[in-house]
Amino acid sequence: MEMGFENDLRRAADIIGDAESVTIVSHIDADGISTEAILAQALAREQKPVESVFVRQLEPMAMRHVPKDSSLKLFADLGAGQQSLLEEHGLCADEVLILDHHVGQPSGTAYPQVNSLDYGITRMSAAGIAYLVAKALDSTNIDLAKLAVIGNVGDMMARENCGLVGPAREIVQDGVEYGNILVRGRDLNCYGTSTRPLHVCLGYCDDPYIDGISNNTNAALRFLERLGVELKNPRGGWLVWEELPFEDRRTIISALAQQLIAHGRETDRLLAETYIFPDEPERTPLRNASEYATLLNACGRWAKPRIGSSICHGERGEAYRDAEQMLAHHRTVIRDLLQYILDTGVTELSHLQYVHTGNRFPDTIVGIGAGMALSKLNWKKPMMVLAAMVDEPEVTKVSMRTNEWVLGRGVDLCEALIEASAEVGGAGGGHRIAAGAFIPHDTEEEFVDGVNRILKRQFASADPDDS
Ligand code: C5P
Ligand code: C5P
Ligand code: C5P
Repeated sequence: MEMGFENDLRRAADIIGDAESVTIVSHIDADGISTEAILAQALAREQKPVESVFVRQLEPMAMRHVPKDSSLKLFADLGAGQQSLLEEHGLCADEVLILDHHVGQPSGTAYPQVNSLDYGITRMSAAGIAYLVAKALDSTNIDLAKLAVIGNVGDMMARENCGLVGPAREIVQDGVEYGNILVRGRDLNCYGTSTRPLHVCLGYCDDPYIDGISNNTNAALRFLERLGVELKNPRGGWLVWEELPFEDRRTIISALAQQLIAHGRETDRLLAETYIFPDEPERTPLRNASEYATLLNACGRWAKPRIGSSICHGERGEAYRDAEQMLAHHRTVIRDLLQYILDTGVTELSHLQYVHTGNRFPDTIVGIGAGMALSKLNWKKPMMVLAAMVDEPEVTKVSMRTNEWVLGRGVDLCEALIEASAEVGGAGGGHRIAAGAFIPHDTEEEFVDGVNRILKRQFASADPDDS
């Protein structure tokens, strides 16, 4: 690991070590929740009093949840992009520590911080940084690597073909050594490999779209039966993918690849590296990083981040049952959201495509819809979703998503949204590949045109022929 990064981690651990008490302010998504759970557990092990606050976004309204007391305010998975807000709120450099991976927007106050982007590390979530700080605090904290992997996977930090890379990969290795993470390379890249009967898992998988299997669980079942692999356990229950023997997994993957090729489709989305948690109960969403992250997202995006956090602390029982219900609901709503976007259709401008979902879906999930819709629409154009904020009708939430191909052509969504939202009196931030903003409701049209203009400039800066 780079020296500067290690020094920053060490300094952060020292600041935490010196604090009398700590208030963690974190984000409500899977990365924010796992980040909070890592920090809260590491602090409890140091016998430090700790309180946690979860916010949907660090904006002026949310600042009233930050207590005005003598505790160290530990901003995690947020803060880097809102340093002027911290300053306006009267927070001094000696009472703040920021652990973040979002694009920074510095203010006049030099807040101590660890930001992976400062070291050119782009594939690292806040949970990864929190974990490295926890490990610097006490090397026995390596059991928490599992939570960092959940945060990294939840924030889509894995590369399509080789999984987590760089320092995030070293974290995986800590978990493997500790014994609570198992890595499976070139595994099936479908949701539900630990929870759904195999034919249901495949039938629900539509990215990649597998002709004759996607959206048809009966056909998926017939496909599997023809391969002659055992689909049920000795008690007659359906097996899930994770339980199949290696040989059967290989047979199925090669048949699926052939099916894709036969229909002229790419096979690269079929496989991914997966992270299995052998210490969790079988056939539950806690069994692998992707399903665990979705469970946490379901809790947070539906306003119950504390339930997600208690699950990360190892609580099961009632918290877990609540989370399972939220997960089922979450998956239904994001499926409806995707369908709504595809049915409504997007408006294409020269350099972006957008859709307005009105007040049909909560602003906390429209970004997920933007990401999911992208692979089914024109993936060469960044995708924007606008949504009404139910509790603040004068504000519109904006979410944008794009892909590596577009980034390679000069696009930076975070920069575009910061600039375009400032022009209309709003505020935005995030990552180059995924960003969001809040804007005044009556500036939507002007804003969308502004983003299109900025994207045009970005595309043109990398390729002067593109205009
Ligand atoms: O703020 P925030 O970090 O929550 O944004 C996370 C979002 O960014 C996720 O929805 C994830 O899909 C997206 N993202 C991504 N690829 C990255 C980094 C983030 O798609 N490399
Ligand atoms: O917000 P972001 O774009 O990062 O969305 C990533 C999250 O979206 C995943 O962690 C998961 O909760 C959810 N998701 C899902 N099913 C999909 C795609 C995304 O549940 N097919
Ligand atoms: O809300 P959404 O998932 O679209 O957010 C994508 C990214 O943009 C996240 O990293 C989020 O923290 C960031 N964002 C932001 N300011 C906003 C809205 C979102 O920095 N007003």
